[in-house]
Amino acid sequence: MLAGGSGSRLLPLTRSVCKQLLPVYDKPMVYYPLSVLMLAGIRRSLVICDPGQLQLFQRLLGDGSRWGIELSFETQSEPRGVADALLVAEQWLDGDPSALVLGDNLFFGTGLPDRMHRADDRADGATVFTYPVSDPSAFAVMDVDGQGKPTGICEKPETPSSALAVTGLYFYDSQAPERARSLTPSARGELEITSLNQSYLDAGKLHVESLGRGDAWMDMGTHADLLHAAHFVEAMQERQGLRMACLEEIAWRQGWISSEMVQEQARGMEPSSYAEYLHRLIQA
Ligand code: TTP
Repeated sequence: MLAGGSGSRLLPLTRSVCKQLLPVYDKPMVYYPLSVLMLAGIRRSLVICDPGQLQLFQRLLGDGSRWGIELSFETQSEPRGVADALLVAEQWLDGDPSALVLGDNLFFGTGLPDRMHRADDRADGATVFTYPVSDPSAFAVMDVDGQGKPTGICEKPETPSSALAVTGLYFYDSQAPERARSLTPSARGELEITSLNQSYLDAGKLHVESLGRGDAWMDMGTHADLLHAAHFVEAMQERQGLRMACLEEIAWRQGWISSEMVQEQARGMEPSSYAEYLHRLIQA
């Protein structure tokens, strides 16, 4: 999970605390992307953050054992681009394939776990997840043919050829760090994730999973985004009585932690409504 960057569009909110630790309604932003990895069945993750924020991340997330997962941390000394995550993580990956999620992205939808498992099952190549948006020129835009096969990808096009934005969730084969190393930094001095995805496309190894109407994807990079995401979480949770990105619940449903562990953690978060939710979950 890439949780560094400068967060400059959120200043002054991000002067002392980074974007991914800001609240999104009832939990820190980073819970949402971490929940995505957990829903994909991933139990070993590396959190990449700014060196000045490392202790805060460690205090919040610990070693992951309370959710039955293993979390490690690595720092990115300056924002060298999203594809730089593959280089920062290279040693930790040790030749394994990987999934990369951006620390400021929220995904929600019943079809997501299945699509992620399908991506995970592909031994060769990369998988990106697209989502239709009303303002595609703010994103990397994907062109697909009639069969849904990718034909082109363009970073923030002035005149977008489709409405399909490439979201901040990527599954890569073990070649990704090597490919990332051969990329040339862009005009803004970053290793662009679109360049990495383009290299897979050029090799005929880029796959697309399409998220649709029944799914939600938000990036939380601006003040308005942050507010919209908080409203969305509040509205869904109030309506359904089910929490979004509740890491204890996900871990418990995956069978990674026991009911006793959930209850113990709930006791540690009393008297919050989050704790109440966990107690109710186990009693039910
Ligand atoms: P962005 O939103 O593109 O950039 P940013 O977070 O630096 O914010 P701003 O544009 O307001 O300055 O980043 C998307 C995600 O990737 C976000 O979670 C931060 C992370 N990121 C890094 O960790 N390192 C990087 O080098 C970059 C470019 C982004």
